[in-house]
Amino acid sequence: MSKNVLVIGASRGIGKELVKQFAAKGLETIGFARSLKNSSENKIHYIHLDLLSPTVKSDFEQAISGIHQIDYLVHNAGFIAVKPFLELSREDIQNCYQVNVMSVMEITQVCIPKMKPGGHIVMISSIGGFQGSSKFPGLAAYSTSKAALVSLTELLAEEFKNSGISINCLCLGAVQTEMMEEAFPGYKAPHQPDEIAEFIVDFTLNHGKYFHGKIIPVSISNP
Ligand SMILES: NC(=O)c1ccc[n+]([C@@H]2O[C@H](COP(=O)([O-])OP(=O)(O)OC[C@H]3O[C@@H](n4cnc5c(N)ncnc54)[C@H](OP(=O)(O)O)[C@@H]3O)[C@@H](O)[C@H]2O)c1
Repeated sequence: MSKNVLVIGASRGIGKELVKQFAAKGLETIGFARSLKNSSENKIHYIHLDLLSPTVKSDFEQAISGIHQIDYLVHNAGFIAVKPFLELSREDIQNCYQVNVMSVMEITQVCIPKMKPGGHIVMISSIGGFQGSSKFPGLAAYSTSKAALVSLTELLAEEFKNSGISINCLCLGAVQTEMMEEAFPGYKAPHQPDEIAEFIVDFTLNHGKYFHGKIIPVSISNP
């Protein structure tokens, strides 16, 4: 039976490339996002999921009720707010934490009981959430939430150290995606989404046996 992978945040940017590349490697690939409609093509299954919904855990549980084993899980969804700290609204802060941290925790709670030794959970964080990296003004809500994802990785790695499931975190540098273009118009990132997706796919499928609880900066310039 072919292995499967769940990609959270699969409608655009890096996630859109991830689902294409996982499927091209023969995995049953299930991609989730708010703007996706439920549909299937070849090995890709798209499922609508809104991570901002207060019922996200039960919605996700329902959506994957027919899946009995999960091999790989990539938490790629992200929400960014770029505003001076004094102008951040409660909603800006809540949205960053809900999408980037809370939904990750709730979805992982649903997935871990369905995972077996050899499984791999990959958190997609940001170099801005990596301790000691250069920081940028306007990213207090986003980068602190990505730092929480770093800490969550270390905590889950400890709690599940005897499970045989690897849990790691990639802290990405700048990638030329819609998020980047909306947040920093005109900025030219050193990597395209398909390039970074190639790295994430390889890391997810082939490196879980070498890394556990690791926070890996994937950046050529920072820190
Ligand atoms: N691009 C960069 O330079 C960069 C750098 C460091 C880290 N990262 C991280 O890499 C990941 C991918 O980034 P990207 O640049 O590809 O971002 P993107 O183009 O904005 O894509 C983000 C994905 O997350 C999904 N998402 C956001 N809010 C959601 C919600 N409420 N419910 C369901 N899905 C939701 C989006 O789907 P919908 O649009 O359908 O909601 C989309 O598929 C993120 O975690 C980001 O923080 C990116």
